[in-house]
Amino acid sequence: MRWRGKPRHSPDPCSDADTTRGTGRAASLSGVRAGAHRGKCERTHIHPDQPPLPLGKTRIGTPAHSARLALLLRYAAGTLEHLIDMTHIAFIGGGNMARSLIGGLLKTGTPAANLRVAEPLAQARESLGRDFSVATFDDNRLAAADADVLVLAVKPQVMPAIHHELRDTLQRKRPLLISIAAGVRIDQLERWFGNLLPIVRCMPNTPALIGAGATGLCANLRVTPQQREQAQHILDAVGITRWIEDEALMDTVTALSGSGPAYFFAFVEALENAAVAQGMPRETARILATQTCLGAGRMLVESNEAPATLRQRVTSPNGTTQAALESFSADQFPRIVARAVGAATRRGEELAAALDKD
Ligand SMILES: NC(=O)c1ccc[n+]([C@@H]2O[C@H](COP(=O)([O-])OP(=O)(O)OC[C@H]3O[C@@H](n4cnc5c(N)ncnc54)[C@H](OP(=O)(O)O)[C@@H]3O)[C@@H](O)[C@H]2O)c1
Repeated sequence: MRWRGKPRHSPDPCSDADTTRGTGRAASLSGVRAGAHRGKCERTHIHPDQPPLPLGKTRIGTPAHSARLALLLRYAAGTLEHLIDMTHIAFIGGGNMARSLIGGLLKTGTPAANLRVAEPLAQARESLGRDFSVATFDDNRLAAADADVLVLAVKPQVMPAIHHELRDTLQRKRPLLISIAAGVRIDQLERWFGNLLPIVRCMPNTPALIGAGATGLCANLRVTPQQREQAQHILDAVGITRWIEDEALMDTVTALSGSGPAYFFAFVEALENAAVAQGMPRETARILATQTCLGAGRMLVESNEAPATLRQRVTSPNGTTQAALESFSADQFPRIVARAVGAATRRGEELAAALDKD
């Protein structure tokens, strides 16, 4: 285990005091939980409001009922915020995805003192500590020991190896387990890490690395509503999120948004090559195609219109766009895309099935 660096901008005045002291695990981490520390930090760590009286016998629609309801809602919202603030999140694997999530969480107000990362590579640990002021570990068990939420951010093929290390720790504490590993099913995670755990399986995509990700999330039945909020809060830090109730559709998420960025890259590549074939310099073709992709994407997001509506709006009768779209139709463009998404879905199922042997 390594404790690296001093938090530079911790929003919690107490975390500086504790996390900069000493180099050992006890010095770096236990203070956040210790009673003495909590005593010092009452102002920030203990919810200031007492629970309001329950609704009791107040009559619905009366001012007394509305006032108590408002108080209760305010208390519930405060409690949730408090819960997220106090949550200790450990990442297993400190690669690209973990870095994006950590960066996003810090930006959205999670104190660095609440985050830990286990990462085998010393150089990567140093850079995580330097860039984010989070505690780093070379031992997965130590990082996971006191975590309320454990994010598995390793490659799918590494999962079977880490379950030996983590299973006992997880069974003792039963934290919320969040897996972002592409294609790994919930029943596989339950088999490796124990079936009593609350588990959220996520499928983010590459734009999460720049905070513009799209993530599908799916939970097992042990996940509480609060834990769903926690998982969503973590993934919302790098883009938009949608819950998928039927896990079978997670392979479709992989084929749609998971692999989707590559489809757009391939499309822009083809556009660029088509313009180059007509004599345009590559650099000009690339910048025009790239900006077209960005502009069209922004119009989709910002106009809130269906893609079909936007397409019709730019297609004048007998114009150039119509000529191109008719050519797409003749070549069965929708069928080409549907077949590609089907191929990606099937490959996702195959890759997950290969992990059944472990
Ligand atoms: N990147 C994406 O856009 C994206 C999108 C969707 C889903 N995902 C999923 O997110 C997960 C992480 O992807 P990534 O792009 O962040 O990969 P990555 O950059 O390779 O990160 C994985 C990290 O895990 C570390 N690691 C390897 N073995 C370990 C072990 N036994 N214990 C702890 N850490 C270990 C690796 O260290 P070393 O480098 O030293 O091996 C590496 O730093 C993958 O499962 C992937 O399927 C990624």
